[in-house]
Amino acid sequence: MSIKINYSNKLTSKSSANLVLFVDQNFNISVLKEMISSTEFSYISDLLKTSDLKKNLLFFEINSKKTIFLVSIKKDLKTSEIESLGAKFHGYINYDKKNDYFVNSDTINNKIENFIGYFLHGLKLKSYEFNIYKSKKDKRLISINVFGDKNKISAQNQLRFKALEEGTFFARDLVSEPGNILHPDEYAKRLSSLKKHGLKVNIYDEKKLKKLGMNALLGVGQGSIRGTYLVTMEWNGLKDNSKPLAFIGKGVCFDTGGISLKPAKFMEDMTYDMAGSATVVGLMKNLALRKAKINAVGVVGLVENMPGGNAQRPGDIVKSYSGKTIEILNTDAEGRLVLADALTFTEKKFKPKFMVDLATLTGAIIVSLGSEYAGLFSNDDKLSKQLLDVGEKVDEKLWRMPLHKNFDKLIDSKNADMQNINYVGGAGSTTAAQFLQRFILNKTPWAHLDIAGMAFSKYGGALNSGGATGYGVRLLNQLIEEHYE
Ligand code: BES
Ligand code: MN
Ligand code: ZN
Repeated sequence: MSIKINYSNKLTSKSSANLVLFVDQNFNISVLKEMISSTEFSYISDLLKTSDLKKNLLFFEINSKKTIFLVSIKKDLKTSEIESLGAKFHGYINYDKKNDYFVNSDTINNKIENFIGYFLHGLKLKSYEFNIYKSKKDKRLISINVFGDKNKISAQNQLRFKALEEGTFFARDLVSEPGNILHPDEYAKRLSSLKKHGLKVNIYDEKKLKKLGMNALLGVGQGSIRGTYLVTMEWNGLKDNSKPLAFIGKGVCFDTGGISLKPAKFMEDMTYDMAGSATVVGLMKNLALRKAKINAVGVVGLVENMPGGNAQRPGDIVKSYSGKTIEILNTDAEGRLVLADALTFTEKKFKPKFMVDLATLTGAIIVSLGSEYAGLFSNDDKLSKQLLDVGEKVDEKLWRMPLHKNFDKLIDSKNADMQNINYVGGAGSTTAAQFLQRFILNKTPWAHLDIAGMAFSKYGGALNSGGATGYGVRLLNQLIEEHYE
């Protein structure tokens, strides 16, 4: 099913169009008299007497061709709740089997700017499906026609929502692709094509990475026949040299664990181990599409973690880009090795205002926070508060977890500057974050988002129908819009 939204339509033939109309919390329909016939009005009035008015969506089948939907706007609704209502309406479209809907929200008084935009945004986000490998597809084309003037949304805001949707969908596409298709070589190619949107894309291949001394990142890819890459994507929306905001992502296209091989059960999930990078990519695409007035850079480490004759061994010691040495005690703790080099490189090359990294870093964060919150680790209270606040607002929530120097002894190594796992056990997500912190050399404000529980949803959530969620694109866009643009 694909959904097209048209904004400028008039309600042409009132008698046959499916209608989506908004009413107050008591389903007071007197405001609808101009949009529905008197027979429809009395029919709905009668049915409302026996309907559950606590619901926020009711529908009335007028005849086989026409349905009228009433969306009840309860008091003090938040924008994320309006998005959820739009997503809920998507469920009715699935059931209703009709192709054309006319939507009007002029009938209610609400103070939320872009009210109808949020509703349609939720509908659009929920409608995403990844079906390119299915022979049988749902080919329905749904058109949603918005009419009315009062709650019209400006062209600029239409672009805002569209850019966010395309950024989120691009992230979801990348996460959904299986490991045999989206390996690092292919991924780097797809990123190169982002140039057409005005992003400056730089691809560092193995030869360049070796020259730079990024051995922590390179070690992870050593067992794979595919290449290893670091890709930077720059958006210079301010057209000046002011410090960029930096977003860094873990792009492990498939994580077998390497020589410290993972068990077979659920290993297939590790195709989403590049979700952190996909969020960064989706965010950068969104910024370019809506021509954000901001300087930003996205940096992703693309690599495949495989066992093989040349693979990294447990016990190997590598020298990272920072100069610090790492003893690899477990080749399955590879994400922190990818990010270590990416963080130091980003800080040194771009001197950013702040750095936010995203990674499906630890299974332990799923134990602590499940699929409700991403773990937030940060050296900066201001950045943390901003992230927590926007997370609530767009319903991509975060929970702050501790960093503390006392955890350091757990990752100090006898043979090198540090080791990549904590042998004592416990605090798995924090020790990983504490490890990352060692690669920020100049005290740049930094936040690490462990999204292992958020990037992929087995059962679907408010704004996704299951599968890749695109978690983080809307969160970070909101952070930028509210605090930095
Ligand atoms: N990619 C995994 C973490 C993960 C697990 C993401 C489940 C999504 C779902 C990561 O590379 C990993 O293997 N982490 C290990 C670390 C351990 C060896 C210290 C883990 O969490 O078990
Ligand atoms: Mn791993
Ligand atoms: Zn991993």
